[in-house]
Amino acid sequence: MPVDPQPQAVLTPLTESAVFLTLTVAEGGEQTVRDLLPELGGLVRSVGFRLPDEGLTCVLGIGSDLWDRTFDGPRPTALHPFVEVTGARHHAPSTPGDLFLHVRAQRLYPCFDLARLIHDRIGGAVEVVDEVHGFRYFDRRDLLGFVDGTENPVGDDAAAAVLIGDEDPDFAGGSYVMTQKYLHDLTGWQAQSVEAQERAVGRRQLDNVELDEATQPPDSHVALTTIVEQDGTEREILRDNMPFGSIARGEYGTYFIGYAADPDVPERMLRRMFVGEPVGSTDRLLEFSTAVTGGLFFVPPAAMLDDPPPARTDAAAEEATPARSDLGIGDLRTAR
Ligand code: HEM
Repeated sequence: MPVDPQPQAVLTPLTESAVFLTLTVAEGGEQTVRDLLPELGGLVRSVGFRLPDEGLTCVLGIGSDLWDRTFDGPRPTALHPFVEVTGARHHAPSTPGDLFLHVRAQRLYPCFDLARLIHDRIGGAVEVVDEVHGFRYFDRRDLLGFVDGTENPVGDDAAAAVLIGDEDPDFAGGSYVMTQKYLHDLTGWQAQSVEAQERAVGRRQLDNVELDEATQPPDSHVALTTIVEQDGTEREILRDNMPFGSIARGEYGTYFIGYAADPDVPERMLRRMFVGEPVGSTDRLLEFSTAVTGGLFFVPPAAMLDDPPPARTDAAAEEATPARSDLGIGDLRTAR
């Protein structure tokens, strides 16, 4: 039965801080996770009500395998594991992750506190396999020094880009989220001239203006991530990338996060970046950026958290999980 299509806090304005937690769920921990879903809203209120100016939100995403292990009944039609992309020179790996939490607020401490409370509820059933504390950097720049997020869709366009609609009515108001942690070779990047950096990104650094058609290189990040269909429709995603880093470990990174109504859109962007368009003409940013994680999660509509789909019964669990080829995703893999 179609659910109330009110989304989780996917379309919230950008904040100054975020915690990104990726977790795996141990065999047998599925019910613990299912029990968490209706409690999530209360946990957000426990922290956020006391901090009305923080804009504290939490988006929860569920990976393909965990969905099949946990729930009975229909599954989100486009849900599948992150499909790694291998080009001749660049690789986007797929890494473990059953559950994903995107916690946002102006300051870091409310994000941290909420993530801690959620983890307290399910800690025995999960392992945190990746934790990133993101910060906003100057005027919304990444650590490469460029303003990141400018061309995000807004208003109705954003909702249309990220929210599932009539194409999958059982999951209307849901979304998909793709995550990737990138590490930058800042030394190599900073050895480039500003003009070379601008050609790699496709925008000017200081005033953030997009390079015009005559000067926009086809292997710039902007050129390769702009997908325009033959009828002129642009396919968009909603990003809330955040810089992060560790001076001790020499890590300077961008946490990429993109919401979409259909994961095919960010997947096409990834193939264009990593394999190239045409093949071999890969994203210049990747000369200085290495993807070290990759995950894809379904973001249930808010009402589905309050009233989750029925738990998977033993009988259902014995049925084979759909093979990747049955999901029609084998063709997304790109051979070296
Ligand atoms: C190293 C990781 C990344 C960095 C540092 C980065 C940075 C940027 C910057 C600076 C821009 C230009 C300003 C704007 O946001 O509109 C941009 C645009 C964009 N990026 Fe990324 N990005 C990264 C990864 C990705 C990935 C993995 C995807 C998709 C799967 C992606 C999709 C896009 C899109 C769709 C645009 C807007 C293009 C346009 O319409 O002009 N980015 N990114």
